[in-house]
Amino acid sequence: MAIRRLILLGAPGAGKGTQAQALEELFHIPQISTGDILRAAVKAGTPLGVEAKAYMDAGKLVPDELIVGLIRERLQEPDTQSGWILDGFPRTTVQAEALDALLLELHQELEGVVLVDVPEDVLMERLVGRRTCLVCKKVFHVKFNPPPEEGCSREDCPKTWVQRSDDKEDVVPTRLAAYRAQTEPLTDYYSSAGKVHTVDGNRPPLAVLSSLKEVLG
Ligand code: AP5
Repeated sequence: MAIRRLILLGAPGAGKGTQAQALEELFHIPQISTGDILRAAVKAGTPLGVEAKAYMDAGKLVPDELIVGLIRERLQEPDTQSGWILDGFPRTTVQAEALDALLLELHQELEGVVLVDVPEDVLMERLVGRRTCLVCKKVFHVKFNPPPEEGCSREDCPKTWVQRSDDKEDVVPTRLAAYRAQTEPLTDYYSSAGKVHTVDGNRPPLAVLSSLKEVLG
């Protein structure tokens, strides 16, 4: 059975966003990135953004109750009917349990969990070199995937590539520590339900995508 309701698990910089953007185009199902939603809220200065900003800048996780409410709303939007790719959620056992309850309520089933596995020593270089298109949020890397001279795929691309404030060298170790302590245990949480597939993320993006396509069917 094809997997179209899925979670992408993996450390900061593992390539979840890069792969989710590619899968979104391929399968026409939305990437739901809690990080992107939070960054948009910070930029817009909403109450959620104001509360989340300090946690994000410090590399710490935002409190579960803020995130769960946000996902509850997002999973009820019409574009999620034929599937979704959760990127960056759940990140704690509390969030995973809340997702279980929410899916029961929505009569939807989590069809698979894919762990994009990358050794920790690779992650720092990926994160500090990441750049994102100011407008469409497409992800690039100064060395591994430089932003194209002609801009991203949008006609109005301002060719402005921004670095995330939490991609600074002094913040990344806190993010990696939060991943190890709070998110890594989710692999066991989902393994017991037989839902976890592991993909080697320490290869070029297209090779990783090819493995993902095989797993997702
Ligand atoms: P979030 O935005 O979710 O960040 P993250 O999980 O730390 O993941 P990243 O976006 O850093 O990495 P990625 O795996 O998507 O890698 P990417 O594809 O961009 O969260 C940010 C913050 O928001 C958190 O710290 C927290 O404060 C808060 N937050 C979000 N969700 C939360 C939640 N559920 N609960 C609580 N708090 C939450 O790739 C990275 C770089 O590597 C790019 O430059 C890319 O071009 C490059 N790259 C990708 N793949 C490859 C490859 N195969 N080879 C070489 N380079 C590659």
